Amino acid sequence: MNKVFQSNDFKNRIVYQIYPASFMDSNNDGWGDIRGIISKLDYLKDLGIGIIWLSPIYESPMDDMGYDISDYKKINHRFGTMEDFDDLIKEANKRDIRIVMDLVINHTSTEHEWFKKAIEPEKNKYRDYYIIEKGKGKNNKKVPNNWSSAFSGTCRKEIPSLKGMYYMHLFCDTQADLNYKNENVINEIEEIIKFWLDKGVYGFRCDVINQIYKTTLKNDYSKLLFNKGQKYYCNQKGMFDVLKKIRNDVLNHYDTFLVGETSFLTPDIAREFLKTNTLDMFFEFDHIWCDKSKFIPILKTKFKAKKLAKPILNWQNQVDWIANYLENHDQLRSVSRYGDDKKYINESAKMLATFLLSLRGTPFIYQGEEIGIKNFEQFSSKESDDISAKMVFKTAKSILHLKDETIDKMINETLNRDHARSPMQWNANINGGFNQGSKTWLKVNPSYQQINVENQINDPNSILNFYKKLIKFRNDSEILKFGETETVKISNSIVSFKRIYNDKTYLIILNFSKKSKKYNKKCDANLLISNYDTFENGNLYPPYFGGIFEVK
Ligand code: GLC
Ligand code: CA
Repeated sequence: MNKVFQSNDFKNRIVYQIYPASFMDSNNDGWGDIRGIISKLDYLKDLGIGIIWLSPIYESPMDDMGYDISDYKKINHRFGTMEDFDDLIKEANKRDIRIVMDLVINHTSTEHEWFKKAIEPEKNKYRDYYIIEKGKGKNNKKVPNNWSSAFSGTCRKEIPSLKGMYYMHLFCDTQADLNYKNENVINEIEEIIKFWLDKGVYGFRCDVINQIYKTTLKNDYSKLLFNKGQKYYCNQKGMFDVLKKIRNDVLNHYDTFLVGETSFLTPDIAREFLKTNTLDMFFEFDHIWCDKSKFIPILKTKFKAKKLAKPILNWQNQVDWIANYLENHDQLRSVSRYGDDKKYINESAKMLATFLLSLRGTPFIYQGEEIGIKNFEQFSSKESDDISAKMVFKTAKSILHLKDETIDKMINETLNRDHARSPMQWNANINGGFNQGSKTWLKVNPSYQQINVENQINDPNSILNFYKKLIKFRNDSEILKFGETETVKISNSIVSFKRIYNDKTYLIILNFSKKSKKYNKKCDANLLISNYDTFENGNLYPPYFGGIFEVK
């Protein structure tokens, strides 16, 4: 039997997600980089976080911003060198901060050596690294099956050097899916994981991990409009077997953890991950539908606090541990989506912070969330750098026959990922202090003039300082970290729940509305922390109130 080193220390820490291209550009070439991250470690330490998750920093043509990897053992030249990375680990460790990498193993870039070899006319062992099949119909002109890409359209592309043969891409067509029925692929991935763990990496965020194993490649005759094929590639038994093997062969020899990106997750599957020790936690996706249609995802619907809080609180009691988030690089900015990014931007951003940081599980904060960065006001898909927005635009145009501006507006309100990806706003100088003024890879959000770190650091009432206070509070609180969660009330204005640990109880009350709301909370409770300076311990909660009470 392997000795298991896992200390579960990740349960004590708060994670901060860095989107490397947009965090800090140290050499003014328009791209954020590793040296830039190192220069901000003290900022993160001061914020109180204990783990940094880096979105992919491997070599990549950047068609999907690094989620298309062309070399798993090289640092993306835009972000720096391996030496920079080693320094990052060293400097982070000095501050007791751990580094977590993004593990993108469902697919590689079509620029990866494996893929280049796989499509050589002469068959070699790499052909089997990918899911390559013959087309159907006369001259194999038709795609092998009817599955769809997550970014819309088919997920098959013909290989020019191999006429009539197609490879699978569940995402864009330069992200070719790997074949996990091939042991060689698993061995390669294990070697890559070991390589990074030996460098001192603490764990991995596993990209679309529950989709890596395709049980069969049959047509999917279900009525799904999107993600057709899901029942054959999502949450499959084979996926569990692959992850078990990786755990036994590699992970069990290190003190490490895995967090999975798992859309289409059910509580049963989630519990299976925990029971089999294949994932230590996961991101659920139920709450992201609180302001858009599940059937037509580019259709905005009115935000309902109930539809946000209900799934989140429901998950609290379904599993022992979970990864909590309101934002990441794929979602719109939370203060614009779930709060009010105008009059009540400060109150609502702090209220959302209170929600996120008082849940059971590991909290994930996304860069800029701690200062309340809001969405861009206008963004046309033509200037968008987001491959999914571009692909969806094309598909929507061909199906919906609407005006470009109308489609743009829809995409902008629901899924343009650039909202979250603009350069970090450090100060009010040119480009928000992200660099010294050279052209940035993605345009800067004009809100940087008001919303930036420098402004907020010196303001005791800022969103940033509220995060700091709350993070410290949570880091010191066994109740918030480990208590049971009990829902008290979920409406479209008031959301309330308890956290209970031994004989202590905290009551969390959030007001999701622009109006003061009456709510009869238990009156013998003592307010410990809240986003309002003065609050009468009565039963009237001001707009976007968020507070943690101790129940006596
Ligand atoms: C995940 C990533 C997303 C990426 C996709 C394909 O959903 O978070 O950014 O586009 O996987 O790798
Ligand atoms: Ca740079």
